[in-house]
Amino acid sequence: MVDLSTAGVAESGDWVDAVRAQIPATKAAGYFQTGAFGPCTRQVIDRTNELLMLQNQGPANPLYLNVMKEAENSCRPLIAAAMGAHEDEVALTQSTTAGLNTVIWSIDWQRGDEIITSDQEHPALLLPIYNLHQRYGVKYHKAPIGIHKNVVDEVMKRVTTRTRLVAMSHVSRQSGQVVSAQKLASALRERGISLMLDGAQGPGNVPVNFHELGCDYYSMCGHKWLLGPKGTGALLVRKDKLDSTSVSWTGAHAQAEMNAEGDFKWHPDARRYEFATRNQAGFGGWAESLRWLDSIGWENIHDRVSQLSAYASEAIQKSAKFSLVSPSESSRQNGIVVLRLPNGFKGIDLYHRLREKDDMLVSPVDHPRDLRVCLHFFNTESEFDALLGRLEVYCA
Ligand SMILES: Cc1ncc(COP(=O)(O)O)c(C=O)c1O
Repeated sequence: MVDLSTAGVAESGDWVDAVRAQIPATKAAGYFQTGAFGPCTRQVIDRTNELLMLQNQGPANPLYLNVMKEAENSCRPLIAAAMGAHEDEVALTQSTTAGLNTVIWSIDWQRGDEIITSDQEHPALLLPIYNLHQRYGVKYHKAPIGIHKNVVDEVMKRVTTRTRLVAMSHVSRQSGQVVSAQKLASALRERGISLMLDGAQGPGNVPVNFHELGCDYYSMCGHKWLLGPKGTGALLVRKDKLDSTSVSWTGAHAQAEMNAEGDFKWHPDARRYEFATRNQAGFGGWAESLRWLDSIGWENIHDRVSQLSAYASEAIQKSAKFSLVSPSESSRQNGIVVLRLPNGFKGIDLYHRLREKDDMLVSPVDHPRDLRVCLHFFNTESEFDALLGRLEVYCA
């Protein structure tokens, strides 16, 4: 764990060196890809490997089974505490996508029903929606959520009597735009419509409090800004929505009880959406990373992300070559900083060049001239300066 007990350490910036020493991926010249895959600490890697070894050496030994179950169970309360949710609102999943599908398929869709999403979504949400359209004739609308749009108005003007669900990113992976979830959720609630947020880019990047956001469902992953192992995620379902959110795909462990006659009861909590043999080693590793982040302090993490984001956004705005796509107001900035390259340059080409020549990892996003630079608390200003310097050279 990082020792932040010495007064002033968190403010002085020394703690950043301490956390970097625990994250092997920071040895690269620039790890700016947390929005795709967050790097794990050495402790998380070791804990996950230890659990995998244990599980695979003696999978049916009750001693090992108990250790694995405990590792899994330790994750739910940590997620609940980090997310401002109740433990019984947390279902562990394998990914953000799995949680999105759990909610989407909880609805008995009828031909002509409607779903509203945004124009900046990941295939994780788009493909389930396109599938609904193809299989059931569900209509979909994409509300534009560009930086200068009023997202609440854009969504509300697309609501009809057939709208069954609004599902969109909490934080856009393409522009860093953050949806004003509270306002949107309350406008939708007045019309009796549920809101699900795709939280893949939220927790760990921006402060998230599930109850304050006011949405009905929040699907998230462990493997990006929360620096957990791959194949970990959670779906948060508001307590008062549990009984009206039907279980669709299911199996062993979703039930609190069942008998040979076919009588059964779901778990009274969100564990009803979990089933089958699961990634318990991953959950044990994720629990380790959540404890570690908590020991650093969520406020320290978010303050640091805001500082870095403001620093990088200003540098991009000052440069003659690049323009800033992500928000320019400091109150709306977060770890997703997106810059637009000059005419004639492509994000995908620069991504390859930086990776191959400079050991720097950034992400191309949907607009062909955009590059996404993810800045988490372990990144540094000098890493960003070096990145911008290389981009200046390549775009000369
Ligand atoms: C906004 C968004 N949603 C969903 C996903 C997919 O996440 P997962 O792999 O956890 O399903 C991503 C991955 O980049 C994403 O950026």
